[in-house]
Amino acid sequence: MATSYRVTVEPVGKEVLCREDQPILDACLRAGIWLPHSCTHGTCGTCKAEVLDGEVDHGGSSSFALMDFERDEGRTLLCCATPRSDVTIEGDVEEEEGVEHFPVRDFTATVVSLDDVATDTRRIVLDLDSDLEFNPGQYLQVSVPGNGVTRTYSMANSPSEPRRVELHVRRTPGGVATDGWIFATLQIGDEIALAGPYGKFFYREARDEPAVLIAGGTGLAPMKSIIRRVLESDLRRTLVLYQGARTADQFYDRDFFAALAKDHPDRFEYRPCLSDEEHPDFAHGTVLDVLDADRPTLSGHVGYLCGPPPMVEAAMKLLMRKRLFPRDIYREDFLDERDKAQGSGVRSPLLKR
Ligand SMILES: Cc1cc2nc3c(=O)[nH]c(=O)nc-3n(C[C@H](O)[C@H](O)[C@H](O)COP(=O)(O)OP(=O)(O)OC[C@H]3O[C@@H](n4cnc5c(N)ncnc54)[C@H](O)[C@@H]3O)c2cc1C
Ligand code: FES
Repeated sequence: MATSYRVTVEPVGKEVLCREDQPILDACLRAGIWLPHSCTHGTCGTCKAEVLDGEVDHGGSSSFALMDFERDEGRTLLCCATPRSDVTIEGDVEEEEGVEHFPVRDFTATVVSLDDVATDTRRIVLDLDSDLEFNPGQYLQVSVPGNGVTRTYSMANSPSEPRRVELHVRRTPGGVATDGWIFATLQIGDEIALAGPYGKFFYREARDEPAVLIAGGTGLAPMKSIIRRVLESDLRRTLVLYQGARTADQFYDRDFFAALAKDHPDRFEYRPCLSDEEHPDFAHGTVLDVLDADRPTLSGHVGYLCGPPPMVEAAMKLLMRKRLFPRDIYREDFLDERDKAQGSGVRSPLLKR
């Protein structure tokens, strides 16, 4: 059995046991100690913390997200760091009003459907062996069979469906999880090991400003969860979804959102956008072009952005030009191994969301 060490989280003084092969973040999230994190793969730097006492192994932390001088100064990435002794860390444990965090747990899931919904895009529906509580927008870590690797996928189901998970997965050519498994050998009836919920990208129910949701590609998944949750609740919130793709064959779930917009005209607006094709059913342009033309200002709104990192970064800049502050913008970048190797996923410590 792996040795466990005691991890003390300051400034709250909470203690948790962590195995020597377990990331410290994982031990904390499973014990109900919530610490800020985003990618959980050592790429973005969101989980950076000070090691006040004790020894850690930095594991697979990217050398861009955790630079050599930071390691020398006693910082670590909690999503990759494993303990080598009893450890005291200083985490950024600030509470957020109106937010309940749910502990991470393990699940066994069975594939109940697998559909090609657009070019190189699959919808996977899974039945879980127990209820999963989460905030809409959060994601799961999926274990890829046979190689000890995990990949992260956002949930598109509402929290009101605690046993049935919907994932949207885009194929990455040569990708271990997608090309090598999900688009190759995965079948209905297969069992999958999962853990969750993870992530700080989720809908803030306490914020009553109108929300602008911008989704590129499978960045639609967490938006679908958020929209479902808001529209099935009695929250009197308004949402507008800008969904983007290059061509019509890459687009999916258009009928689903069009029907919601028809049923909830006072609460939900839908703007599907195609950038590389003209089509009578879509606005022409990138989501950002269309949003820019639609709205001179977004003052008084909140923004939720999700999808490929370059799109999310460009959307962040546009929303700030439209008079939103970083504190009004929540983002999820679908970072992958290339971003980790190239350092393109590192986030400014000034951007807390
Ligand atoms: C929080 C979060 C949520 C996400 N949610 C979703 C979602 O809902 N849907 C979705 O489709 N995706 C999502 N992703 C992306 C997903 O987790 C995977 O990264 C993606 O599916 C690719 O995985 P893969 O194993 O197929 O590819 P990988 O094997 O990880 O390869 C990805 C790319 O990196 C390149 N690469 C691999 N290793 C290196 C290296 N050492 N140097 C340089 N390049 C390298 C590969 O050639 C390939 O182009 C999310 C990511 C994050 C961080
Ligand atoms: S959450 Fe640890 S580096 Fe991204």
